[in-house]
Amino acid sequence: TSTPVGVTPLMGFNDWARFTCSAQARLDGTTAGYSFQQFMEDQAKAMSDTGLVAAGYKNLTVDDCWMQRNSAGYLHGATNWGSSSQPGFDSELTAYADYLHSLGMQAGLYTTSGVNTCQGVPGGIMGHEQADANSLAYWGIDSIKLDNCGTTSSNRQSEFTSFANALGTATAGHSRKILFNESAPAGAGPASATKYQTMDWVRGLGQMWRVSPDINVWHPNPADSWDSPHAADWYEGGIYQNFTDTVALARYNSPGNANDADMLLIGDNGQLTLPEQRTQFAVWSAMGSPLMISTDVRKMAADPVTYAPQLAILKNADIIAVDQDALGAGGYLASRDNASATAGIDVVVKPLAGGKRAVTIVNKNATATNYTLDLGRVGFGNLGCARTAKDLWNHTSSTVTGSITTTIGSHDNAMYTIDPGNCGGATATGMIQSA
Ligand code: GLA
Repeated sequence: TSTPVGVTPLMGFNDWARFTCSAQARLDGTTAGYSFQQFMEDQAKAMSDTGLVAAGYKNLTVDDCWMQRNSAGYLHGATNWGSSSQPGFDSELTAYADYLHSLGMQAGLYTTSGVNTCQGVPGGIMGHEQADANSLAYWGIDSIKLDNCGTTSSNRQSEFTSFANALGTATAGHSRKILFNESAPAGAGPASATKYQTMDWVRGLGQMWRVSPDINVWHPNPADSWDSPHAADWYEGGIYQNFTDTVALARYNSPGNANDADMLLIGDNGQLTLPEQRTQFAVWSAMGSPLMISTDVRKMAADPVTYAPQLAILKNADIIAVDQDALGAGGYLASRDNASATAGIDVVVKPLAGGKRAVTIVNKNATATNYTLDLGRVGFGNLGCARTAKDLWNHTSSTVTGSITTTIGSHDNAMYTIDPGNCGGATATGMIQSA
């Protein structure tokens, strides 16, 4: 028997947003002989040492550039790391997967639906679907991210479908199943017909999918990480943009199905202020997005005192519980009084198991703002009745009747779980789509 994969949103690490394909140094700055594989194993060890694995961040995904295709057509680890002379991965990834499993982690890899990856590495599945799926299963890989590069909207569905089938064939009778992480919807602009058509077919094939642009990879400007409107080039995301694009697709979330708003910039990245890091974490959890860290965890493990605030955000068990809630609902936008990243208040509501609701209030203003949340506005009736609200940042519970008033710092948030108690649950248990 096998355990189903991806029932709750994936949690873990992906190297891309923080590191891209660049060859990396050890923490002491030396590079000689430092392989891509060792770099990933060092991040994994740091995930374990910091308690992030114990907090639920079990998946370690190596993104683009880890692979090559040999002359016989088989997928292998690239033995060199990009253009540098640093070693890459072992040819076979069995020992790598075994090492991650020994830490209680899962091994994730990346490839694409075309011939070349988004970085031009000839490691895509096209023409090699079954052989590549067999290699992943043979090595003991736990998840695969399949990107769009090399396919168009006309052949993407057939490529993703044949790979889903190949994964099924490769793991038939195996206890280890492979989670299928599909980037396909990210290749279509927000609210386009192609976007919605793609959303319909990816749900039948995999467990999670990117729906929004890449967070900040192309942006050296820190301010862009909070507010990165994709008017000029829609494939440039920021926290607000990816939140906006993802929250609009809340109805596609369910157990085993997660909209992925892309990676978390919480850690040493230096792109978000601490309040903004709290808000990315709150909103991603409020949407039921996968929680994939992209930061130098080695630094956090080496200096847990300096990075105590970031580790505390990532390990907030009350907020992780919202993300991982068994109902599997997406969070919807209950209120947005200003369609701007830098003004107004946004309220996100996530229905939880047992009739509870998580309510996240984001202050986009440049100054601290007082806000009164009317519980009627987030789906509760019988407003004269006292309910319990738990503040998920302070971990304190209080009795609330009809409304909650709070002061929220700039780009920060307040987050509550509201228990229906004996007052009757929310008026709607499923999705309410905001306008
Ligand atoms: C695309 C994806 C990113 C990353 C890169 C790798 O841009 O959206 O998440 O995988 O490719 O090249």
